[in-house]
Amino acid sequence: MSGSSDEAAWWQSAVIYEIALVSFQDSNGDGKGDFAGLMSRIDYLKWLGVDAVWLTPIYNSPFRDLGYDISDYCSIDPAFGSLEEFDGLLEALHAADIRLVLDLVPNHTADDHTWFVESSSSRNSAKADWYIWADPAENGGPPNNWLSRFGGSGWEWCKARRQYYYHSFLVEQPDLNWRNPDVRAAIADTMRFWLDRGVDGFRVDASAVLIKDQLLRDNPPNPHAKDKPPPQRQTTVFTDDRPETMDCIEFIRDVIDSYSGRMLCGEVQGKTDRIGHFYGNDRPRLHLPLNFALLDSQWDALSLQATIDAYFNAIPEQAWPVWAIGGHDKQRIASKIGEAQMRVLAMLLMTLRGTPFFFMGDEIGRKRVPIPSDRVRDPFEKLVPGFGLCRDPERAPMRWDDSAAGGFTDGDPWLPLESSGTPNVAEQQRSERSVLALFRALIRLRREHACLRQAGYEPLRSRDDVLAYGRTDGGAEILVALNIAAEPRKWHWLGRGRLLMSTHLDRPSETLPEASILLRGNEGVIIELEAR
Ligand code: GLC
Repeated sequence: MSGSSDEAAWWQSAVIYEIALVSFQDSNGDGKGDFAGLMSRIDYLKWLGVDAVWLTPIYNSPFRDLGYDISDYCSIDPAFGSLEEFDGLLEALHAADIRLVLDLVPNHTADDHTWFVESSSSRNSAKADWYIWADPAENGGPPNNWLSRFGGSGWEWCKARRQYYYHSFLVEQPDLNWRNPDVRAAIADTMRFWLDRGVDGFRVDASAVLIKDQLLRDNPPNPHAKDKPPPQRQTTVFTDDRPETMDCIEFIRDVIDSYSGRMLCGEVQGKTDRIGHFYGNDRPRLHLPLNFALLDSQWDALSLQATIDAYFNAIPEQAWPVWAIGGHDKQRIASKIGEAQMRVLAMLLMTLRGTPFFFMGDEIGRKRVPIPSDRVRDPFEKLVPGFGLCRDPERAPMRWDDSAAGGFTDGDPWLPLESSGTPNVAEQQRSERSVLALFRALIRLRREHACLRQAGYEPLRSRDDVLAYGRTDGGAEILVALNIAAEPRKWHWLGRGRLLMSTHLDRPSETLPEASILLRGNEGVIIELEAR
């Protein structure tokens, strides 16, 4: 599985940083992040060392769902700036050696998209078959029992057509009909619009739900529904992860492959045992199906090892691994594991074999931001409250400094920030041993050691709370030992080693006198073995 540096594609060696543009940096005081704000933070991205940025949707949108409700795939939402500003941003990022990945939302549009306006106007319109339409059931109700992920029936009645349309998410997010070749062609055109401008790739949103059962069969009940929110009380066998969906992903990949050097990653929503399918067989699918398994793992050495092993075993031999530790839909992991283990996770992320993804704010160990109920913006939480699944706590504006609005805006931030005295960029940039300093040092180390980027992964049997593994690439060999406990643990290895880094950033980088080390509580180390 190892390869030399000149074989590696950029997305294999890149560290990828997700930015929710609306919460990154505001430039005009309207309380929402924008292109000009992001432009002013390119120096920060460069300083941090990330190689690529993935932006949540930037397109014209009523913004009911963080911009995942798109009114026009080929225009910029005025809150973010203009197309000229976008081109300028792309140029500036490229000049800083940072690639740009956009969100592609092929499953649904907003209901004010002209395609839907036309499709819903009549059964005889030219776009009549662009969305998923069905006649009522015999009793006049919805065609079947499919649920929306955002609560209630997935079907909405349309008077003009006297039919229902299907929406996997909000009523205002009708699902496109991916069985229709015209829809595919139209989405391919929108991809080319951005690829022609020079974007480096896409993250495919909701890629596992593009096709639904043609016979519209009812989803069976979920036997594990107890305590789950209502949308999860069905087993979604007829709406999610249908085999025909893979054909759509292959189609999207063909568009990407008609350009050189572009990348396709995607949200696969699946469990580890399904992820392998998203790489493709004879025909390629996603380069990087996003893998969030570390977020779901129990936080102890044996569970983590099992999680990591299960993932490596689940992906095809030639597949390039991916590790994501945060995202705009995921609860902040720092809230679950605490700041001390966040440092350990940073080391794990940057030393596992595969492309690391993290979400803005993870690099300062940001925790979930409390959102008062009258400030909630997440439509999921509004429609399915009370399950603790609101996504606003992760989407709150970036905390650049300790001021009330966090250096994010001069105005009123669209979502509130947490109280001051919490992690912020300015303070952590001043401190040599902050979580931020650790992320930066790890990214650098990864850049300096081809072995960390490309070498194979060799699990070492974890014991006594220490998660350990090696990265071996012919000559070079690196060992990583992570103490998941808060108490010291002794760890041994074979051979002469040089310490490259400790998560505490306070050990000298030097040859170690013995083949063992006393790890402090919550400490991880990276050791380079001398060639035997
Ligand atoms: C994806 C996005 C999520 C959004 C949903 C509907 O899952 O990541 O944020 O709510 O699609 O568009």
